[in-house]
Amino acid sequence: MEDRTERRQALLAAVRRGADLLREGGSALDAVQVTVAELEDDTRFNAGTGSVLNSVGTVEMDASVMVMERGRGGEARISAGAVAAVSRVKNPLMLARAVMEETAHVMLAGSGAHRFARRAGIELCRVEDLITARARERWRARQLQFRKQGSSAAAPSTVGAVAIDSNGNIAAGTSTGGIPGKIPGRVGDSAIVGAGTFVSARGGASATGHGEAIILAGLCREAVAALLGQSPSSVARRAVATLLAPAKAEGGIVIVDRKARIGFAHNAAAMQVATFDSAELRHCWVEPLRLARTS
Ligand code: GLY
Repeated sequence: MEDRTERRQALLAAVRRGADLLREGGSALDAVQVTVAELEDDTRFNAGTGSVLNSVGTVEMDASVMVMERGRGGEARISAGAVAAVSRVKNPLMLARAVMEETAHVMLAGSGAHRFARRAGIELCRVEDLITARARERWRARQLQFRKQGSSAAAPSTVGAVAIDSNGNIAAGTSTGGIPGKIPGRVGDSAIVGAGTFVSARGGASATGHGEAIILAGLCREAVAALLGQSPSSVARRAVATLLAPAKAEGGIVIVDRKARIGFAHNAAAMQVATFDSAELRHCWVEPLRLARTS
């Protein structure tokens, strides 16, 4: 219970930082980055320091960021950056942003991403610096289970943020250590634009949950496309429903549309969301969506 309360406070503090930045006229992209960085630095979440461990007991993280910025003539310019299977940076989303802003590519993986980080002036750390005692204990406890069941469990505590700023620019970002016990080299939805993160002129979305199912559903891209004519809340519920049937996969999504309306839904054991809508900072433990299940 203490952990729950601490995580609630940490989430509120992270969103408050992003909200303060937006209130001072900052960009949606900066707001998403500072919010996600706070959560990556907090060992209670599965991103950055405190990430879950893979089958060989090490950390490999994924992150992506996407932004829609309005040009002078009002035209929408879309850009995105992502990193996959990185293990030597404390803030993978910052590196994803550097990929977006400083390269002609959208995604860099593994050692190439580390080399690029050095070139971009992002400090490299040792992988041990990212591994907490708790992550190590959980890894040991799960080893036997992994051998029996594989690593199909949903990713716990992936972090993400979506924001719209006073210029109408929209950004979304997602960061994760992935699924515990995953095979080294496995890349999940959080690194994949269209799956774990997506933005268009209609809005932005960030997802959490079982990456393979989210990739197959193209979850965030489909959700943002559906914003035409539907509220973010109803889009979020429908998106999660597509994960439940037929795959019965666990997941959740947060969405902000171009009118700054917010929607979120999930079907996992728990998902907490903090929102800021120019008036108020709020937190909620979101009730899971349940569909009739046949088994
Ligand atoms: N949703 C995070 C992952 O599957 O890696």
